[in-house]
Amino acid sequence: MRSQAMNTDLLRAHTPACHDLIHFNNAGAALSPQPVSDALFEHLLLEQRVGGYEAGEASLSAQDNFYHAFGRLLGCNPREIAYMENATRAWTLLLQAIPLVHGDRIITGQSEYASNYMTLLHLAKTRNIRVEVIPNDSNGHICLQTLQQKLDEDVRLIALTHVPSQSGVIHPAAEVGKIARKHRIFYLLDACQSVGQIDLNVDDIGCDMLTGSGRKYLRGPRGTGFMYVRQSTQDYLEPPSADLQSASWTRKDSFKFRDDARRFENWEHYVAGKIALGVAADYACDLGMNIIEDRIRLLASLLREKLRQMPGVEVHEQGEKLSGIVTFSCDGKDASAVHQYLREHHINTSVVRHQVNQLDFSKRGLPDVNRASVHYYNAEQEIDAFCRVLSARL
Ligand SMILES: Cc1ncc(COP(=O)(O)O)c(C=O)c1O
Repeated sequence: MRSQAMNTDLLRAHTPACHDLIHFNNAGAALSPQPVSDALFEHLLLEQRVGGYEAGEASLSAQDNFYHAFGRLLGCNPREIAYMENATRAWTLLLQAIPLVHGDRIITGQSEYASNYMTLLHLAKTRNIRVEVIPNDSNGHICLQTLQQKLDEDVRLIALTHVPSQSGVIHPAAEVGKIARKHRIFYLLDACQSVGQIDLNVDDIGCDMLTGSGRKYLRGPRGTGFMYVRQSTQDYLEPPSADLQSASWTRKDSFKFRDDARRFENWEHYVAGKIALGVAADYACDLGMNIIEDRIRLLASLLREKLRQMPGVEVHEQGEKLSGIVTFSCDGKDASAVHQYLREHHINTSVVRHQVNQLDFSKRGLPDVNRASVHYYNAEQEIDAFCRVLSARL
């Protein structure tokens, strides 16, 4: 198995909190490795010592590394990358930049992230466009057949979440990409949960735009994110606002947007976070994204297997190729109470609420459920300890 190539002891030594707790909340925010925290703190201390603007000038090459690191991670040109404060901001900006006219349709999926879906509803209201939701098939994947049937010349965009935050499903992003290309429709992929856990290549996926967060499987700092915009798509998009980073004021009455993805950036941003996120992307690439992907899948399937054997526990995802996100319920137990109980035993998990997953959970008949999301630095022994603690509560 390729995951044998990983030196888990060293990786855990890079992750000091591993000694004090079991962190199964990586889909919320993963623990940062030491080199990422070091990069963050070093820049903040530099700002403290010499001043914010002066520290910015002194760290230009570390800032520039951010674009190269993401180019390497996603298989694209650094000019196709922009830094963002979070994934929602990136996704919303791109949505607003797509030329949409009255009567256009946007296609999305049943497992769309709540903020994305609310932004679509907002757009439908303010710009008179229509949003259509493609249901999942019996495997929990977006139904490609229904997607094909829905496409006509009014469809301007397919907006899909690759790995939903509320289940372990991995949607067939590359198959959707083939369909989008064939019909020449914009394709925006939310890779918030997949980046850092799945080996992504934007050409293989065939997306025009992709967005993600720093704090999740990438193990970057909170308050960081990014977007990818394909070079050939950039000219079709009109950023909703201009500032001194995204554009230059050429003459008194005119300005010009940059000719790369940074036309979506803000001048003022979290410089320390951007530097540290670049370090996080390099850290993942140096470990090997294929190795990371294998190890996460191995741990998640081990966890699912053990949970399935426990009387009184129901695991909610089926299928072969699942992500590091494991959702489950304990018979007759409130999900929040289970979460709180685990916290008291130094185990971090989270609760996925029906309220913020109405499309998906209504179809699947699910109430609030528990979520344990594993990362490559988790250990097999932690899975045993987790199951032991949980079974004492059943
Ligand atoms: C699938 C998915 N998309 C988008 C987001 C939003 O990311 P951010 O909080 O960085 O805006 C999340 C956050 O949990 C997510 O899980």
